[in-house]
Amino acid sequence: MKWNRRHVLDTDDWSRDEIETVLDQTRAMIEILQRPIRRAPPLRGRTVILFFAESSTRTRVSFELAAKALSADVTNITASGSSVEKGESLYDTVRTLQALGGDVVVMRHASSGAPYFVAQRTDAAVINAGDGWHAHPTQGLLDAYTLRDAVGDLEGRRVVIVGDVLHSRVARSDINTLLPLGARITLSGPPTLIPLAWRCGQLPPGVTYESDLDRALDGADAVIALRLQRERQESGLLPSLREYSRVWGLTADRVARMRPGAPVMHPGPMNEGIEIDASVAHGTRSLIETQVTNGVAVRMALLYLLAARAGPPGPLEERA
Ligand code: CP
Repeated sequence: MKWNRRHVLDTDDWSRDEIETVLDQTRAMIEILQRPIRRAPPLRGRTVILFFAESSTRTRVSFELAAKALSADVTNITASGSSVEKGESLYDTVRTLQALGGDVVVMRHASSGAPYFVAQRTDAAVINAGDGWHAHPTQGLLDAYTLRDAVGDLEGRRVVIVGDVLHSRVARSDINTLLPLGARITLSGPPTLIPLAWRCGQLPPGVTYESDLDRALDGADAVIALRLQRERQESGLLPSLREYSRVWGLTADRVARMRPGAPVMHPGPMNEGIEIDASVAHGTRSLIETQVTNGVAVRMALLYLLAARAGPPGPLEERA
């Protein structure tokens, strides 16, 4: 097993072996989740603190379910209702979490880099559950797992990522996770929502930019539509939502340009009718709910691997 990470902050420096270790471990966790009693003992006696200073449904709930499925104690802290609302600094919040004895801190924060700051100031393992525009590594891993499960080996497969790439931590983490597995990425979206260097051709090896979405989708093996992040945008980046939807929205006609059966993904939450039509989001090619389901097993895998590094975890089977 190739795993020696103390934290999960980003996958930008992960090897293919490390990514495959998580994906293999995820398979074992899915078996636990298919048992009549979806619970195993390895994190018994450990505490997982979920510190979400930005809103979340999928990531927060799936981490909570994942930690409980592995028998950890779980505590939730959100910005609203905690002392963050009274102006407590991130540093003091971290020290408080440390004093409360968390073994793992799962955190989401609006500031890029906040999980790195926390990781340097706590003995706990830190998992980045999304920081600003920067990274969402657990989403990248669950997207890789879901895609590989659906289409098989990703070597040479072409995946289109369309939409608001500029503000998307998911796009960056998907790229960082899919490239080492052999996939090629085509980015598409309005030039104003593509990072300047990328739209000028300075792209990582294996990544291209195609401004025409129809051309990008021709013969593609999968598409990942991104949420239009209106809360992070300055004004003037788009002419209008109607125009965005017309030019960049994922419709059934556009999906038909891909390889037969090529899947459609979206990290959620969706702006249905803007970046994706409801008929596509809920159509036969959609893996969007499967992504959510797989998110629990991927997060169980990561919690298990971090716990194993910190000290021998309990068994995956209940002893008689
Ligand atoms: N994909 C994702 O991060 O969703 P949430 O914001 O609901 O956690």
